[in-house]
Amino acid sequence: MYKIFAKTLFVGQNLISVPECHSTNTLASELSDKTNLPEGTVIITPNQTAGRGQRGNSWQATEGLNLTFSILLKPTFLPVKDQFHLTLVTSLAVFDYLTSLSLNGIKIKWPNDMLIGVKKVGGILIENTLQGTSIQKSIVGIGLNINQQEFPIASATSVSLQAGRAFDLNDALNSLLSYFEQRYLQLRAGKSAALKEEYLTNLFGIHETRVFIANQVRFEGTIQGVNDNGELVVLTNGMHKTFSLKEISLDLTS
Ligand code: BTN
Repeated sequence: MYKIFAKTLFVGQNLISVPECHSTNTLASELSDKTNLPEGTVIITPNQTAGRGQRGNSWQATEGLNLTFSILLKPTFLPVKDQFHLTLVTSLAVFDYLTSLSLNGIKIKWPNDMLIGVKKVGGILIENTLQGTSIQKSIVGIGLNINQQEFPIASATSVSLQAGRAFDLNDALNSLLSYFEQRYLQLRAGKSAALKEEYLTNLFGIHETRVFIANQVRFEGTIQGVNDNGELVVLTNGMHKTFSLKEISLDLTS
């Protein structure tokens, strides 16, 4: 079971570790509806049986080999229009953790997939509860493949496969939570422009010609950046077009 030794101010200081659950995001949502959990509460399990991903996908992780957890935030300081800033914070926190392991080729694939080379090592699912123009509650779910050696799809990898050694899951969790808190405090301190700049610097494919798929049509374009709503801005056929997550996917193989 997990233990927190990270010297964080609040992230992870309340840790709810369960042997098994369907989805830590769902459990975090249910528990926080029932009781007043402090900001920074982490809900974690070594065996997530029905993990949820973006675009309605599932998230699968072999029991006891990976990190699957959710962080409860109460970012009432953040206007709804800036909710993408939580994506910046979380992607950069995972990026910081992977960078601390001296791995090569770490990139963020818009909006928040974590890549090593062209393989996915982690994913993020952020679910916000809005109240008027502010965000009452945010559940930040992180799935990071740590020690898994085999995957059903060739496009997935783990930290261990890339580094050639095994990792202590508890150490990995503590390290990640420290990086997360630092990035969240950066956001709280109003440094969102710096966060966005770092995010773009580490964004897969930025300013490169890549193949995209939208409306079942493949086309070439160049990522120019991300707008204030978190939509991807792509230059294609001499025109700037913006896309939401549901509208576009990037072909990693070409
Ligand atoms: C994606 O890449 O599609 C996002 C995957 C997010 C998976 C994590 S694992 C912990 C948390 N609980 C869930 O059900 N999903 C997130």
